[in-house]
Amino acid sequence: MKIRVAVVGGTGYTGFELVTLLLHHPKVELTEITSQSYAGQPISMVFPALQETCSLVCAQMDLTRLVDRADCLFVALPHKTAMEVVAPLVRAGKRVVDLSADFRFRSPEIYEKWYQEHTAKDFLAEAVYGLPELHGDKIRTANLVGNPGCYPTGVILAAAPLLAGGVVDPDSLIADCKSGVSGAGRAPTLTTHFCEANEGFTAYKVGEHRHTPEIEQELSTIAKRQIKVVFTPHLVPMSRGILTTLYANLSRTVSEDEVRGLYQEAYERAVFVRVLQQGHLPSTLYVRGTNFCDIGWRIERRTGRIIVISAIDNLTRGAAGQAICNMNLMFGFDEAEGLRLRAWQP
Ligand SMILES: NC(=O)c1ccc[n+]([C@@H]2O[C@H](COP(=O)([O-])OP(=O)(O)OC[C@H]3O[C@@H](n4cnc5c(N)ncnc54)[C@H](OP(=O)(O)O)[C@@H]3O)[C@@H](O)[C@H]2O)c1
Repeated sequence: MKIRVAVVGGTGYTGFELVTLLLHHPKVELTEITSQSYAGQPISMVFPALQETCSLVCAQMDLTRLVDRADCLFVALPHKTAMEVVAPLVRAGKRVVDLSADFRFRSPEIYEKWYQEHTAKDFLAEAVYGLPELHGDKIRTANLVGNPGCYPTGVILAAAPLLAGGVVDPDSLIADCKSGVSGAGRAPTLTTHFCEANEGFTAYKVGEHRHTPEIEQELSTIAKRQIKVVFTPHLVPMSRGILTTLYANLSRTVSEDEVRGLYQEAYERAVFVRVLQQGHLPSTLYVRGTNFCDIGWRIERRTGRIIVISAIDNLTRGAAGQAICNMNLMFGFDEAEGLRLRAWQP
């Protein structure tokens, strides 16, 4: 039997990725796609890539209609707008995966410090942070999943085994991340304009990016104390992908085998984390269009540091693919259902 699924905000980049993946999911019937700007237009007009693949027409968002037409809803709206939609859907007994930041935080104070007033605070306690490798058991029974941010996904998966294994100084983490331009969404802005983004490479929001508290929330839980992370995002002239370079001071001498053991143990049952063989390092190319997070590292004895590299596709593992993985867990499907994707490497 199939479940009925709706994508709220289906005309953005994550919306398109959701629609494309859900159309090929054997346990899903895609029943509704909403849009404000394109209501009444076939989704295949918005995204010509969907011609002869999807006949749905974008609908104006109507909560009563959504409740009526779907068992599970993906909300792919900007933060703030998302919380206004998610709360009534959960209240109506629906299962929701929200791709915005609105339900990722356990502390309303932290959310309000970095974002704005939260008008659905009551739901934060029941929302589960949707990183399957860390919270798989809770996700299975959740009605509301706050799907992780793209940068946090790559950083947390790279750092978690080292913190859990106690081999690095938790106060020494520096995450240097580079993202493709689709991370900023589909609406054009000056910084995402072709001439501004192409053939350039720039850091942005240094010391103030909103993904910082999200990374710190999850890594502090693993470290069992409050930690702070230096996180510097960069925009690189490619469409999709995030490469994270994580630096940490080793707290003691570790062998290559010990580090490998930590990663292998942490991700032994993780379908979508690939711990690379010694000598190999991740590339955004190897994960493009897939739900994989590839992880590799080098121990730098000269400086007493470990340098961990992770690669994800921001729209798949960093958004839609992870969201579908969460839906799979919530509905008792195989975690990889609809997500057995191959990288787009030529
Ligand atoms: N891009 C990424 O790599 C990425 C990764 C992880 C998480 N996210 C998060 O996922 C969410 C969607 O991101 P995106 O990149 O897909 O953004 P996007 O390309 O800008 O799309 C946003 C969607 O929301 C709709 N929308 C915008 N303002 C609205 C409003 N006031 N009321 C109702 N609908 C509105 C837009 O469509 P209409 O104009 O047609 O209504 C569109 O469907 C965001 O919260 C983002 O932070 C994005």
